[in-house]
Amino acid sequence: MSKALTFDFNNMMSGAVGKDGITDGEINGCAAKAAEARAAVLAEAGKGWQGWMNLPYNQDEIVKDILECAVSVRSRCDAFVVLGIGGSALGPSAVFNALKHLRYNDLPKEKRGGPKFYVEDNVDPERMASLLDVIDVEKTVFNVITKSGATSETMSQFLIIHKLLKDKLGDRAAEHIIATTDEKKGNLIKIAKEEGLKTFYIPDGVGGRFSELCPVGLLPAAVLGIDIKRMLEGARDMDELCRDEKMEKNPALMAAALMYIAMNKGKNISVMMPYADSLRLISDWYCQLWAESLGKAVDNDGKRVYAGQTPVKALGVTDQHSQVQLYTEGPFDKVVTFLAVENFRDTVVIPDGFPDLPDVNFLCGSTMNRLINTELDATEYALTKAGRLNFRITLKQVDEYSIGGLLYFFMMQTAYCGAMLNINTYNQPGVEEGKNATYAMFGKKGYEEKKKELDSAPAKDEKYVI
Ligand code: PA5
Repeated sequence: MSKALTFDFNNMMSGAVGKDGITDGEINGCAAKAAEARAAVLAEAGKGWQGWMNLPYNQDEIVKDILECAVSVRSRCDAFVVLGIGGSALGPSAVFNALKHLRYNDLPKEKRGGPKFYVEDNVDPERMASLLDVIDVEKTVFNVITKSGATSETMSQFLIIHKLLKDKLGDRAAEHIIATTDEKKGNLIKIAKEEGLKTFYIPDGVGGRFSELCPVGLLPAAVLGIDIKRMLEGARDMDELCRDEKMEKNPALMAAALMYIAMNKGKNISVMMPYADSLRLISDWYCQLWAESLGKAVDNDGKRVYAGQTPVKALGVTDQHSQVQLYTEGPFDKVVTFLAVENFRDTVVIPDGFPDLPDVNFLCGSTMNRLINTELDATEYALTKAGRLNFRITLKQVDEYSIGGLLYFFMMQTAYCGAMLNINTYNQPGVEEGKNATYAMFGKKGYEEKKKELDSAPAKDEKYVI
């Protein structure tokens, strides 16, 4: 049993949700496939694109370097900014949001105890302009993160910041930039060497969406004062648990098998619904992991399968007032994952008041803690009663250990599910076409043919534009 979380899948079962639910027979029927998937994933652990499975074990030296660097960064800046996108941005945001004060950047400096933190996960000009309005680049350290060292969005963010720093600080600009990238490939490593930037490497076999537990996520976390050793400990314990041969003792394998069975029953949507603001951005991180890893047109045998499950993010209780109507009464095409927290880091009492208004007064003397978790129980009950598949992952509390464990659990679940679907979990051919078209439209060298192809595409018909 995990010390980081419990995984309760009662409400995936037909006994709870009725005819749409999964039976013990179906789980038994999937056992051979699950065993095969487990064997395939474990056989490749630490190899190829499964380098991420080494991360809980092989980073002692890197962690030392990161912690030294973090001390220096914390002492010399007011703001720490991640430049990156996708897998190079979502993890740092999620961990920051989970483990730091929920209004961290609004706290006064003495209460924050570390630099303000921003993650630029886009190329929206207003976002960049607004960042530059609130930071002093001379008192900021920028961490440019890109595995490929070539991503246009990240490189454009970097070019803007690099020029600003050069104009203001000349050669001292290098003191304000830390690069996190591949050791051998890409342009960023060339620039980093040329400019003498402090550099951390993204290990081989660690793709963007599986990279939070390498320097991609560990450096920003350490700069924020988060205990990264404890995060890795959580991941390590989860790794051991999720290697268990017995599906009933292995939460990631069981979760993958249940999702696989559910997908085969037409559950094409995976709703991630934490009942805690601190876990809100874990949903964003999960959505990328689940969508980019499992959404594949062809399987490993070249067969057209159009696999995957559309991830959707929701927040409890907020989205009870927005999406839950659909989840309870709409199409039977979803699995809802509830993320629950047993012990919140704060307790807020709902004070006495308005004794003559029983509809208000019934809340009095209780706590928001009780209210949020009661609403989770109630929504879970309502969905179950309506025959909707759902399961619950509960963290005893949100801390470094449980977050390390939770992230690792989802990565293992994804790896196992990808193996059951017999697809390549680690590539993303579906995003290449868009990238290449951008390069061609921007006139990048080597994309002349693509430009011709785009130019010859049928023009949009005005008749369909109002
Ligand atoms: O998961 C992935 O591999 C992608 O989402 C990447 O993280 C994203 O495209 C950014 O890539 P890079 O880190 O190479 O800049």
